[in-house]
Amino acid sequence: MGSTTTDPPAAEYDVIIIGAGISGINAAYRLQTELPDYSYTILESRTAIGGTWDLFRYPGIRSDSDLHTFGFPWRPWPNPKAIADGASILEYMNGCAEEFGIDRKIQYEKKLLAAEWSSKEASWTLSVERLSKSECEEKDQNLETFKARFVVFATGYYNYSTPLETNIPNLSDFKGPIVQPQFWPSDLDHANKKIIIIGSGATAITLLPSLAETALKVTMLQRSPSYILTVPAEDPSGSLLRKLFPSWISHRILRWKFLVLPFLFITFCKNFPNAAKKLMRRQTRAQLPSNIPLDPHFNPSYYPWEQRLCICPDGDFYTALRNGKADIVTDTISSVTATGIRTTSGQELEADIIVTATGLKVQLGGGAKVTVDSNPVVFPEKFLWKSTMIEGVPNAAVSIGYTNASWTLGSDTAAFLICRVLKYMRANGFESATPSLSNDRPSSSAVKYKTGGDWKGMRSTPLLNLSSTYLEKAKGDLPKAGNRGPWLPRSNYFFDRWVGVWGDLTSGLSFVGIEKKEV
Ligand SMILES: Cc1cc2nc3c(=O)[nH]c(=O)nc-3n(C[C@H](O)[C@H](O)[C@H](O)COP(=O)(O)OP(=O)(O)OC[C@H]3O[C@@H](n4cnc5c(N)ncnc54)[C@H](O)[C@@H]3O)c2cc1C
Ligand SMILES: *[C@@H]1O[C@H](CO)[C@@H](O)[C@H](O)[C@H]1NC(C)=O
Ligand SMILES: *[C@@H]1O[C@H](CO)[C@@H](O)[C@H](O)[C@H]1NC(C)=O
Ligand SMILES: *[C@@H]1O[C@H](CO)[C@@H](O)[C@H](O)[C@H]1NC(C)=O
Ligand SMILES: *[C@@H]1O[C@H](CO)[C@@H](O)[C@H](O)[C@H]1NC(C)=O
Repeated sequence: MGSTTTDPPAAEYDVIIIGAGISGINAAYRLQTELPDYSYTILESRTAIGGTWDLFRYPGIRSDSDLHTFGFPWRPWPNPKAIADGASILEYMNGCAEEFGIDRKIQYEKKLLAAEWSSKEASWTLSVERLSKSECEEKDQNLETFKARFVVFATGYYNYSTPLETNIPNLSDFKGPIVQPQFWPSDLDHANKKIIIIGSGATAITLLPSLAETALKVTMLQRSPSYILTVPAEDPSGSLLRKLFPSWISHRILRWKFLVLPFLFITFCKNFPNAAKKLMRRQTRAQLPSNIPLDPHFNPSYYPWEQRLCICPDGDFYTALRNGKADIVTDTISSVTATGIRTTSGQELEADIIVTATGLKVQLGGGAKVTVDSNPVVFPEKFLWKSTMIEGVPNAAVSIGYTNASWTLGSDTAAFLICRVLKYMRANGFESATPSLSNDRPSSSAVKYKTGGDWKGMRSTPLLNLSSTYLEKAKGDLPKAGNRGPWLPRSNYFFDRWVGVWGDLTSGLSFVGIEKKEV
């Protein structure tokens, strides 16, 4: 009241979704389908839909899942290629958002800075920065406030502005361009250049064949090898199914196929690790040129699927090796020099360009400060309820997917669960739902109640159990999963889907009614 201009009232919504990536769009679809009378908006800090697929622009960028399961279950993937390039994925996402009017719900260039829950008001207050600076120049005037009863953090799982820090000795001595795949310069000319890619993950394996098309030479320098599985880019059964059945049936069959086969393959790998290793070695050896030996370059220190398996469609990675345009070196870096890299074993690798494909910096919640009644929420200290809601944080959910199946399968399970919780709250007149350890009713009597609120004996297990380097480093940044009941991590799509659609909603959640009566 003291100022000459009064602040505009905060825009109020039933639900606010943060992020217009594939999880955010999917959550929006579920919400407007299941709860059509609920108001919602999507706040997105970028200028476009797509998230990951809008940010990453390196040559050859593509999915390593099939789009029949990575795509939305409610809008069949139309392309015969199951593994798709980044541009096709973006086009598909834009088409889906447009078709269902979700695009009109997105507010671009609005970055969530802080989310504050007030128990008194039973609502969230979101501080949002307007990134388009055209309207007014002063920073505090670019702040906008939103209110919501429920917030969905569909912000992905990594930091958009900073990749994982790596300690590459004397990297700054290098004279040529040093490129991070997260920020690929659109004007970088790599034709006829010598390129070293540092890393052996999905990004390096995608980049190598693509760069090798025009580069003079591409060398993948890896510290530790990965398994690389060749799959057909275009599913051979797809076109036959499309001929035989109407598209809604052929889509269902394809989706089931891609749900079941990878699941069986992972189960096989977990149960018969030695046989799986033999199988992987055999298929790799058959595709290698004679000058590149299987050991040590394709001999990981772990069994298949203990870490995320890399996919290469139609064996493009191996084709590049056979063409002599690409090479692989398994060694550690002793020092970067002005003109290349010296390895510990004394090799001198020449380079015009160095690509550091060394991983993502894991981060949840889009870097926003989250508080509950003015108390800061420290994500890594919290257990996640059904991998979706955060212990002690009312009316909020995170969209976390799988790392050993399409991400979207997990974030869709979360979206379904969110809608169920919202419907349950409405039906019972509750204004808030908060995951709480003291409200979980373990079936085992061995678990004793500890005065003070928590159940004794909850052990934490990793939320995403794959020992990849960047997930290993991220353990301290992610919330935890528990070892029982609704706190268990996701297991597999079939089970989680069942739990998400039919499972108990009250175990582990405490509700507050409109008249503030704790239940
Ligand atoms: C290169 C790459 C390839 C991948 N390929 C696959 C694959 O083939 N299969 C698979 O299953 N998984 C894959 N993944 C992992 C994961 O599935 C994808 O990253 C997926 O697109 C994640 O979708 P998302 O919507 O959850 O998050 P994102 O795509 O990361 O989208 C999050 C959105 O939230 C916005 N946002 C974040 N913070 C804020 C904030 N504070 N305020 C406002 N907006 C914010 C971002 O701008 C972004 O648009 C890949 C990941 C990468 C990096
Ligand atoms: C995580 O994965 C490893 C290797 O596959 C396995 O040995 C371990 O039991 C798993 N841990 C949990 C908590 O699931
Ligand atoms: C890195 O550079 C510094 C200064 O240029 C040099 O003293 C050092 O020996 C270099 N390190 C290695 C490992 O070569
Ligand atoms: C990413 O990480 C950097 C460095 O830790 C941090 O300063 C920045 O705020 C983070 N970015 C986002 C969008 O959270
Ligand atoms: C996939 O990973 C989850 C943990 O994220 C694990 O519980 C599950 O068993 C894995 N799936 C298979 C088929 O092994």
